[in-house]
Amino acid sequence: MTKPIDLAASVRSIVDYPKPGIIFRDITTLLGDAVVFRQAVDELVRPYTGLGVDKIAGIEARGFILGGALAHQLSAGFVPIRKKGKLPHETVRIAYSLEYGVDEMEMHVDAVKPGEKVILTDDLIATGGTAEGAVKLLRQQGAEIVSACFVIDLPELGGRRKLEALGVEVRTLMEFE
Ligand code: PRP
Ligand code: HPA
Repeated sequence: MTKPIDLAASVRSIVDYPKPGIIFRDITTLLGDAVVFRQAVDELVRPYTGLGVDKIAGIEARGFILGGALAHQLSAGFVPIRKKGKLPHETVRIAYSLEYGVDEMEMHVDAVKPGEKVILTDDLIATGGTAEGAVKLLRQQGAEIVSACFVIDLPELGGRRKLEALGVEVRTLMEFE
C-alpha cells in the first residue's frame, strides 16, 4: 500500500513573520509539491461532489489558487473576492475586521446570481474576520453559502466558531496552534 500523505508536514512554519511572536503557516511548500497539492485539493473537494455547486468564491490571494483548482474539479465557476480597488467592473464592497484593524473587500456586482450555490475558500482561517466579510458580501448578493473550506484552521483564534454562528458549515484539513 502507498504511504498516506501527511499534508500538515508539507506546510512550512516561519517564526516571527510578519511580526515578532507570529508563526506564519506558509502553504507554498504544499502547493509546490505536485502529489501533496493534488491530495489537498482532492480532500477539499470530496465532500462537495454531486452537490451541484455553481461557484467557488476565493479570497485574495491564496484563496485564488485553491479556488481555481476546486472550481475545475467541481465544474463550477470561480469568483474572486479582492481587496478594494483591484476589480475593474462595478463592485459591491464590505468592511471586515482584521486581527488588528479593518479593511474592505470587494466582489463584482454580477459575480453571483440570487440562489446560486457557492463554496467559499481560502488557505487559512484565523480570527475569521476575512471569511465573515466574504460570507456577508456573498449573501448580500443572494448567494447560498453551501460551505466554507480552508486548508488550515488556527482554532485558538475562533474563526470556525464565528462562521458557524452565521450558519456556515466549515471544513478544514488541519489545525495548528
Ligand atoms: C490571510 C489568510 C486569510 C486571512 C485569515 O490573508 O490568507 O485570508 O489572513 O485571517 P482572519 O481569519 O483572521 O481574517 P492576509 O490578510 O494575510 O492577506 P494576503 O492573502 O493578501 O496575504
Ligand atoms: N498564514 C497565512 N495567513 C495567515 C496566517 C498564517 O499563519 N495567520 C493569519 N493569517
